[in-house]
Amino acid sequence: MANIPFMRLDRQFEAHKGQFMDAVEQVFSHGRVLQGPEVAALEERLAAFFGLGRAAAVGSGTDALVLALRALGLEPGHKVAVTSLSFVASASAIVLAGGVPVFVDPTPGHLLAREDMILDLVRSGRVDGVVAVHLYGQMAELEEIYGQARKRGLFVIEDAAQALGATRNGYAPGRFSDATCLSFDPTKVIGAQGSGGMVLSNDQKLIETVKRLRYHGHAGNRVYTEIGHNSQLATVQAALIKVKMDHEQAWRERRQQIAARYDQALNDLAFASALPVRPGNTHIRHKYVIDVPQGRDDLAAHLKAQGVGVSVHYSMPLFEQPCLRGRCEVYGDASEVKRAVNRVLSLPIYPELTDLEVDAVCRALAEFEA
Ligand SMILES: Cc1ncc(COP(=O)(O)O)c(C=O)c1O
Repeated sequence: MANIPFMRLDRQFEAHKGQFMDAVEQVFSHGRVLQGPEVAALEERLAAFFGLGRAAAVGSGTDALVLALRALGLEPGHKVAVTSLSFVASASAIVLAGGVPVFVDPTPGHLLAREDMILDLVRSGRVDGVVAVHLYGQMAELEEIYGQARKRGLFVIEDAAQALGATRNGYAPGRFSDATCLSFDPTKVIGAQGSGGMVLSNDQKLIETVKRLRYHGHAGNRVYTEIGHNSQLATVQAALIKVKMDHEQAWRERRQQIAARYDQALNDLAFASALPVRPGNTHIRHKYVIDVPQGRDDLAAHLKAQGVGVSVHYSMPLFEQPCLRGRCEVYGDASEVKRAVNRVLSLPIYPELTDLEVDAVCRALAEFEA
C-alpha cells in the first residue's frame, strides 16, 4: 500500500538542510531575533518579486489582512465583500478588524468568487470594500472591480495567501488593488517553519501604517500613536523564507508537472474532473482540487484506505462557520457554495512527491468504483 501523506515538510528539510541550518545559525549568531536585517531584506525581495513598492512583514496571513484592513481605514460596521468559499481567515480577519463580511458565491467551475456579484455590491454601494481571494493558486479578475471601487472610494485587498507566484494576464497579485496580503503558513508554497505573513503595496503611507500597527502603534522614540498589535515575523523565519524563495521557480514548475500528470489521469475518469484553469491565468498549484459530483466522501475514504492523504478545501460555506454566524451577510442564494462543499477534494501536491508516488495516486483514483 502507498504511504503518501497530504503534506511532507520533512522531505523539504532533508533536501535543503544545509541551507536552512546556515540561515538559522546566521540569525542566532548576530542575535537580532526580531526586526533583524533579514526581515527588511525579505520585505525588499518580495516587493520586487510582486513588482510593488513596499512590504511589511507580520506574524501571520491573518494579521496581514487585519492590519491591511485597519490601515485602509475600515471602521466598525463597515461591510466587506468576500467569497463564501475560502479559509476562515479571509472572513474572520474582517470581523477582527471590526467589519461585517458580505459573502458572495463562487463561480461554478474554477470556484473563484463571482465577480458579477462583487461588482453589484460595489456599484450599489452596499459594501465599503472588497477582500478578493486568489483561491487554490489561481487569480481572480480584478481590473473592473478595482476600477469601480476606486471611483467610489472603496478599498480592494487581495488575499494572495494561496497565490505566491501566480499571474493573470502576465500580472502578479497587486496590480489592481490597494494592498496584497501573503501567508507563510507552512502549508503554503513558500512557508515559514511556523507562522508568518506580509502586506505589500505601492502606497508607502499604507505600509508605514502597517509597520506601526504591527508593533503597538510605535511611531519611534517610544511614542505609540495607535492601539497596535504585536505581530512580528521572527528574523529566523524571514531568513528561512528567503532560502525557500531561491527555490520558488523550481518548486512551482515541479508542482505544475505533477498537476499535468493528475490532469491526464482525470481525463480518463468519469466520476471526477480537474477544476479548470482560467484562460489568462498561470496556476501555481498550491492546491490540486478535483470536482466529484457524486460520492466525494466515498472517494476520499477509498484514497485514504489506499494510503493517499487527501483533504477538503472547504467543507462548509463560511457563513455557516459558528464563529461567523450572526456576524455576516449573504448576498444571493449561495447555491453554488452549498454544492461545492460537497464535491471538492484536494489531492496531495508538493514538489518532493516522486513520480512513482504521483503514479500511485493516479492508480488509486482509477481503481475507485463510483
Ligand atoms: C486564503 C487564505 N487567507 C488567509 C490565510 C491565513 O493565513 P495564516 O494562516 O498565515 O494566518 C490563509 C491560510 O492559512 C489562506 O489560505
